[in-house]
This record gives sequence, C-alpha cells and structure tokens, in this order.
Amino acid sequence: MFVLFVKCSILCCLVKYGEPARILGVFPMSSGSHHILVYKLMKGLADAGHDITMVTPYEQENMPKTKGNYSEIILDEMRELISAQHKNLDLFNMGKQNMAVMMPLLITIFGRNINNTLHHPKVRALLSSNEKFDAVIVEHFMADVMKIFPSVFNCPLILLYSMGPNSWINPSVGNPQEISYARHLYSRGNNAVPMTFFDRIINVLYHVFDYLLNTFYYHPLCDKLLRNAYPGVPDTKSLAPNASLVLLNSHTSLYPAHPLVPNMVEIGGYHVDPPGKLPKDLQEFLDNAKDGAVYFSMGSNLKSKLMSEERKKIILNVLGRLKQKVIWKFEEELPGKPDNVLIKKWLPQQDILAHPNIRLFITHGGLLSTTETVYHGVPILAIPVFGDQPGNAEKAEYAGYALKLGYHDENFTEENLEKSILELLNNPKYRENAQRRSKLFHDRPMKPMDTAIYWVEYVIRNNGAQHLRIAGADQAWYEYYLVDVVLFLLACLVVVFEISKFVLKKAFLVVRSKLSPKQKLKTK
Ligand SMILES: *[C@@H]1O[C@H](CO)[C@@H](O)[C@H](O)[C@H]1NC(C)=O
Ligand SMILES: *[C@@H]1O[C@H](CO)[C@@H](O)[C@H](O)[C@H]1NC(C)=O
Ligand SMILES: *[C@@H]1O[C@H](CO)[C@@H](O)[C@H](O)[C@H]1NC(C)=O
Ligand SMILES: *[C@@H]1O[C@H](CO)[C@@H](O)[C@H](O)[C@H]1NC(C)=O
Repeated sequence: MFVLFVKCSILCCLVKYGEPARILGVFPMSSGSHHILVYKLMKGLADAGHDITMVTPYEQENMPKTKGNYSEIILDEMRELISAQHKNLDLFNMGKQNMAVMMPLLITIFGRNINNTLHHPKVRALLSSNEKFDAVIVEHFMADVMKIFPSVFNCPLILLYSMGPNSWINPSVGNPQEISYARHLYSRGNNAVPMTFFDRIINVLYHVFDYLLNTFYYHPLCDKLLRNAYPGVPDTKSLAPNASLVLLNSHTSLYPAHPLVPNMVEIGGYHVDPPGKLPKDLQEFLDNAKDGAVYFSMGSNLKSKLMSEERKKIILNVLGRLKQKVIWKFEEELPGKPDNVLIKKWLPQQDILAHPNIRLFITHGGLLSTTETVYHGVPILAIPVFGDQPGNAEKAEYAGYALKLGYHDENFTEENLEKSILELLNNPKYRENAQRRSKLFHDRPMKPMDTAIYWVEYVIRNNGAQHLRIAGADQAWYEYYLVDVVLFLLACLVVVFEISKFVLKKAFLVVRSKLSPKQKLKTK
C-alpha cells in the first residue's frame, strides 16, 4: 500500500514536472528592440515545450517551428498607433530634453495605447473566454493595467524588464531602492562613480518627483482607463496577484552590481543567438577586410536616414578616411558614399559582430546592442541619443571598452569623431577590456535563456512562489525606510530634551533661591 502510494506520487510528480504549461504573454506596448526581447523569451519557452499565446501588435513573418505550440493574437491597429507616435516623437530630437520633463507627456501618449488595448475586441474576447493559463508574462512598462490578465485567469504574474534593477521595477517585488549610490534613470552620470553629496540630493528629488508623478497622475490614469473599459474592476493597486517573478535583462558583466531579492532574476543576454552563417556578400566583404572592419548601426528605432544632414556629412567624411572597411545599417540611398563603406537596410548584427575581422562597433548604445557587443567582445563608440542610451554609454566607457560622443554634444565634430574612432582602433586596451567583459558575460552557472525557463517553470510549479516575496514588498515606503520610526524617535528625543530642560530649569531656580541669601552676604 505504502509502496503503491510512493510510486504514484513519483509518477504524479514526473507528470507535473514534464507537463507543458500554458503561458500567456501580453505585450501591447513592446515596440522595436522591446519586441525582440519579448518575442525571444516567448519563443524560448515554446522551444522548451510550453504552449505559448502572445498578445502583440507585431505579426511574426515566419512562424517559428517550436516544440510547444506558439500562437499570436495580433492587435493590428496598435501597430499603426505606435508607428504614428514614433513619427511624431522625432526620437533624434527627444534626447535634448531631460527625461523627467518628458515623462508626463510619455504617460499621456502611452495611456492611449493602454486604452486601445483594453478596448480591443480581441482582448475583450480573450478576457471573457474560458481559456486557462498557468502564468501571464508582461513587459514591465506601464504594465499596471495588465494585471487584469493574471487576475482574470487566476494565475501568477511574471514581469519581464528590459533594463537592470532600478526605481521603476524595484517596488513590484520590494527590491531595495538604491537612492544613496545608484543614479536615478532621469539623471545622467555613471553609477560606478561614487555619488557626491549634491548628487545624492538630486537623486532624492528625482525619486520624490517619480513618486508624486505615479501617485497623482499615472496610477489614477490607469485606474480610470481600466474602470472605463471594465466597470466593476477593482483599482490596479488592489488587483491581485502580485508579481511572482521579475526577469531582468541585465547581468553583472553589463551593469554595476546591485542587490536582488530572491524573485528577481538576471537573464541579460538571453536574446543573443549563437553566431550563424553570414550572407555570402557580407562574408566576402568582411573576409577581405585585411585592415579590419567597422560595423555601424543606430538600432531599430532610430533610423540613420533621419540623422541631420550635418551629422551625416561629418560621419561620412570620417568613415571615408578610414583604412578599415565599414558596414553601415542605413535605410535609403546614400549619395557620396565612400568606396570603403557598404550600406544595407537590414543587417544580421549578431553574426557580423561575431566575425573576427570586426574591430569596432559604432552604436547608439541601446541595451541590446551593448549586450551583443559584450557577448562578442567588440569595443564600441557610443553615439547615444536619448532614453537609457547615455547611461549605457557611460557604463561602457567606465568599464573601459567604449568611448562616448553624444549625438547632441556640441563637440560632435569631424575632428573629435575621427580622434575617438582612431583611439578605439589603435589602442589595444579597449579590445582587451571588451574581451574581459565577454569572459564575465559567459561565466555563469546556466545559460541565460535556460535560467529564464527554469524560473518561469519554478513559479508555475510552486503556485506563484509567493514564499520568495519579501515582506517589505507590501510595506508603505515610510515603513520600509523606517521614516515613521525615525520621526517617532526624533519626537521622543525632543520630548525628553524638553522635559529635561524644564526639570533642570526648575531645579536651577530652586537651588538658586536657596543659595541666594548666602550669595548676597558674600557680595556685601
Ligand atoms: C498544440 O495544439 C494542438 C492542436 O491545437 C493540440 O492538440 C496540442 O495539445 C497542443 N500542444 C500543447 C503543448 O498544448
Ligand atoms: C478609451 O477608448 C474608448 C473606446 O475607444 C473611448 O470611448 C474612451 O474615450 C477612451 N478613453 C480615453 C481616456 O481616451
Ligand atoms: C500582494 O498580495 C497580498 C496578498 O494577496 C496583498 O495583501 C497585498 O496587498 C498585495 N500587495 C500589492 C502591492 O499588491
Ligand atoms: C564632448 O563634450 C562632452 C561634454 O559635453 C565631454 O564629456 C566629452 O568628453 C567631449 N568629448 C570629446 C571627444 O571631446
């Protein structure tokens, strides 16, 4: 009888472990490089045998052949909405503004996308269907209203975050806010450089600003949109469940070290595929680059063709003078293109970076690009434009495998650009540092994609794994940072001080009144 029970439980256990899970990915806002990140994760889970449904604005041209089922629910109008917004935003000029100034505007713009998602007929149909899911994965970017999905399907919520731990993601699992030593997203500067007293004041103010913006603008907006679309739904704050897991697209080879609570897991670099075969023309072009080659791409969101004429001219003049060959991702014809420069609309970036003749990568400093360059150990010249790019560039510069020349910097001149490129090409220290980072990148207990799959399965196996959640995650900020306790103790101190002062004064008066007759005698 006992043996039978043991046998059965082992069997049940195996079934439970081997069973594919049904996972829903909701990514209505993930455009450009973000779409690559979310798609790669969902495809990886499908490759591992899980049954994946993905809500996204972008249709996969060639459906992947995966072990588990992979299907998509396409939010068609959303794609047009996003591309119209990108057209209006003029990404190249956005970087001149401080991000704190941009935030309220961005929230308003993206609020429209959230609203569109909530009202979308396909989303309504999904939410009222009888589908069952074992977990919902959402990209943490204005993701609060997406909590309605795990709430309706009564399953754990997993957040994917495109950056490392910072003030935006930390509260979802109670990770410590590193106000005293890590710079806020809005501030420019390097996290690896110790912060001065003044830096810390600014950092606190940025955190306060963010708190006020969230409390009085962003959260009420989310609640309004949600209630409007689904009357009777509780507000986002009380909408269960809490995040079970946060998957961070970061790693200590790319980011300064940070504390991580147990349900925050770093999987940075999971999107990078092992190098594949290059198309024949590129292979020949690179094989023949006897002085080495430079690869130049401003990423998928920023189109090189939209650069100002002045910047284009500077870049072309400098590239033309190099003895290295250059591959430039450029989206249209380029008159006056020098002979050593090859331009193409689309390029297999990772396979190019893997080519041994690549000596330098000129990039906007987006997180995917900096990750891929570290994977392959190639030094970079970063030309950051906006968002997290200046910060990424500074981290890379500090780590010693990069130089930075901001797109908007006054000193973006032919002379400076050429000086930076030549320094990177001719001084071996940049390549050595890139190779050292690459070694750190690959030195991990598990490949990053396997880590992601393990933890998603872990959360499903353990019914949301709420035991990983630290108690501090559900505390108010003044409790977490002991502000109430410090204020209380200060108040106690003041009271004790005031009482002592009062008592001493009284005692002094009594003593003086007793002494005074003698004193009078003496003085006479
Ligand atoms: C995949 O889809 C097929 C047909 O719709 C179904 O029979 C099968 O069970 C699905 N596989 C998984 C892992 O859910
Ligand atoms: C959200 O979308 C719905 C339906 O398209 C519309 O009626 C509503 O006014 C929108 N709300 C906001 C705040 O834009
Ligand atoms: C997390 O979940 C617990 C229990 O379900 C709930 O009491 C708590 O308020 C939730 N916290 C947040 C921040 O949603
Ligand atoms: C360009 O100016 C920035 C400050 O605006 C400075 O940090 C950087 O070092 C300068 N770069 C070069 C190559 O002179």
